[in-house]
Amino acid sequence: MLLDLTKILDIAEAKRFAVPAFNVYNMETVMGIVQAAEEANSPVIMQTYSRLFASGTAFYVAPIVLAAAHAAKVPVCYHLDHGAGHTEIARALRCGCTGIMCDWSSLPLEQNIAETRRTVELCKHTGVSVEGELGYVGTTKDEITTEYTDVDEAVRFIRETGVAALAIQVGTAHGRYKKSPQVAVDRIAAILAEAEKAGVNVPLVLHGGSGIPDEQVRAAIDAGIRKVNFGTDICFAFLDRIFETSREVYAIDLFMKGAVQAVKEFALEKIHLLHAEDKA
Ligand code: 13P
Repeated sequence: MLLDLTKILDIAEAKRFAVPAFNVYNMETVMGIVQAAEEANSPVIMQTYSRLFASGTAFYVAPIVLAAAHAAKVPVCYHLDHGAGHTEIARALRCGCTGIMCDWSSLPLEQNIAETRRTVELCKHTGVSVEGELGYVGTTKDEITTEYTDVDEAVRFIRETGVAALAIQVGTAHGRYKKSPQVAVDRIAAILAEAEKAGVNVPLVLHGGSGIPDEQVRAAIDAGIRKVNFGTDICFAFLDRIFETSREVYAIDLFMKGAVQAVKEFALEKIHLLHAEDKA
């Protein structure tokens, strides 16, 4: 069943686990993820990068995600990931996304707040809730590591924007880590504690999930993370299997079978890591 971002994160908060959020690119990645979620009886978020909405690719991917979500026995949210501008956000709403992430985190705080609030206002009219980002989560290629999300700024950001979820910088990055990251678990707990005191607590999101050591992911969930994003390793799971597949198989559906299975196996592993199994 198709669910809004807030509703799926409410399940995670009530049952104290994290919802896996997998980036999807095509029908086969959607198939692998939905099969895993159903087998494990897990809620799941499928999300599509802003780039695919900018290029028009999401116009084809979105109906596939929505068809899979409507038919699924488990709760599914379809989310725009790192919405880069109002054009992509409008397209994602038009394509039926039930969650929107807007990412203005590279802007100064005041502008990040203003743009995020504008997105929340817009999305409110369609009943879709918004994930914002405070503290820039960069890529593993960046030379400079950015500062962790400031606790007081996080409280102000949540209060003034009205976001339903907040992505924070606590030592992770997008891509393949050159060396193992160190997730700042204390900062997660501190942000949640201050937000609770101020009466503005929302679920926190961990980006850059590919390659974070399992024990750190678990510690982050214990500290209160309720959504963990996986993008890069979905691509590697899919592509590694494609490159191993015999060219003798030329019927495309049969050629893709192994890659769908590889995505499913990857998703199952992460569902268990996040304690999301049997939480649907
Ligand atoms: P990875 O590609 O590092 O898994 O990060 C995914 C992500 O955070 C998407 O927003």
